[in-house]
Amino acid sequence: MKVINLGIGYVGLNTAAALAWIGHDVCGVDIDPAKIEMLKSGKAPIREDGLDDLLKQATHLKYTTDISNIINEADVVFIAVGTPSLPNGHANLEYVNAAAKTIATTIMPTHDVTIVIKSTVPLGINAAIERRIRAFVAQRGGDVSKLHFASNPEFLREGCALSDTFYPDRIVIGTDDDVAFKMLSTLYAPLLDQSFAIPPSVPAPANRPKTQLLRTNQTSAEMIKYASNVFLALKISYINEISGLCEKLGANITDVATGMGMDKRIAPYFLKSGLGWGGSCFPKDIKALLQIGGDYGYDMPIIKAAWDVNENQKDRVVRQIQDELKIVCGKKIAFFGLTFKPNTDDVRNSPAVDLANKLIALGADVVFHDPVGLTNAKKVYADDAFSFADTPIAAATGADAIVIATEWKDYATLDYAEIKRVMNTPFLFDTRHVLNAAALRNIGFTYRDC
Ligand SMILES: NC(=O)c1ccc[n+]([C@@H]2O[C@H](COP(=O)([O-])OP(=O)(O)OC[C@H]3O[C@@H](n4cnc5c(N)ncnc54)[C@H](O)[C@@H]3O)[C@@H](O)[C@H]2O)c1
Repeated sequence: MKVINLGIGYVGLNTAAALAWIGHDVCGVDIDPAKIEMLKSGKAPIREDGLDDLLKQATHLKYTTDISNIINEADVVFIAVGTPSLPNGHANLEYVNAAAKTIATTIMPTHDVTIVIKSTVPLGINAAIERRIRAFVAQRGGDVSKLHFASNPEFLREGCALSDTFYPDRIVIGTDDDVAFKMLSTLYAPLLDQSFAIPPSVPAPANRPKTQLLRTNQTSAEMIKYASNVFLALKISYINEISGLCEKLGANITDVATGMGMDKRIAPYFLKSGLGWGGSCFPKDIKALLQIGGDYGYDMPIIKAAWDVNENQKDRVVRQIQDELKIVCGKKIAFFGLTFKPNTDDVRNSPAVDLANKLIALGADVVFHDPVGLTNAKKVYADDAFSFADTPIAAATGADAIVIATEWKDYATLDYAEIKRVMNTPFLFDTRHVLNAAALRNIGFTYRDC
């Protein structure tokens, strides 16, 4: 099938690469000419496991900034643009609206085409966009009977985005339109029956369950996405709340979480205590769902509490650091990790940055190391009071404390005896449970986790 992906970011590019691999002709369209030029020259603008290799072999994948020449050949057009938060917490729909307008003003359908919103959008937006595009195309004299619409929320996780795309738990198609449903079921058939050649750079996870296909209406599909993300955030906030009580009473939170996760009704995922959740999705999706509830006079106290626990968690780590360092003002604190999670270069809404800003407000000097996130961080946080170090040892030199802020495996294998030697005082706050506490204490670190 001929596919267009409008928006070639973390979701759009990984989806485009996977759809091209399974045999579709895909064109990635973006308003960012630099991104398109980079992709045309064979380079991935983001870091994802397996992506560079996949793009090198992607003969069915093209890129452009101009949709007008290709839109009337497409069978499926995805909208995968960003939906960040507005200051009031509502989802900012300017990019989705602009993408819809681009489609509405260029499409003149001569064959069935399905327009699919993959971006996470508030309830009712799929239907609203559908109405607007239909009205616009009708005004231009187009055959609207050939237009079909579906919501197809995305569940991939940055850091393993391609694996999640090739081997998804579920594909949700929200549409009452049988043509749209059939087209998307056909598009995804190789993923549903796993009949594609496994890409060498994205091996199949062991013992994965069969991908499930769920058909719903548009609004339920929109809600599935929000309710899933918010539930995962809630699970993390829950274990963080339990971890605070464990710290007071002397229980070991890692053992507690392990014991809880052995119950298949609970499952071990998203049950690791730490610095809390962040990134480009959880915070904005929680805010958007609370705002949607607010618009309908519906209070959601559990979700509000999950947000508050997440904010308090960073204050809890500040208290731990104050307990050990006493005076934070003037102290140098080295952060190992800046990205919001490992295996990605995405630094949007990173809890590490929130924590660093709290320490800077208390007068600390913060220096960040990150295995891949520094290039993005230097752009995004150019105006913040951070400094950056190219190696962990450079960050640690003269430091009064280290904070492990992102769960990069790289930090587990460092020479901590050497790191201790270059530090001013050997305090280590492992907010991601990456290190071996006993080994660090043996070499003289004061080690704390959360
Ligand atoms: N990042 C994730 O892990 C993830 C996971 C699931 C769902 N989502 C959702 O998917 C959507 C996209 O997220 P993302 O992280 O990929 O965003 P992103 O910011 O990485 O990418 C968005 C891309 O859209 C482009 N764009 C903006 N307006 C455009 C337009 N009018 N036409 C063409 N391109 C345009 C931007 O230049 C950018 O390249 C969001 O709604 C997000 O909530 C994200």
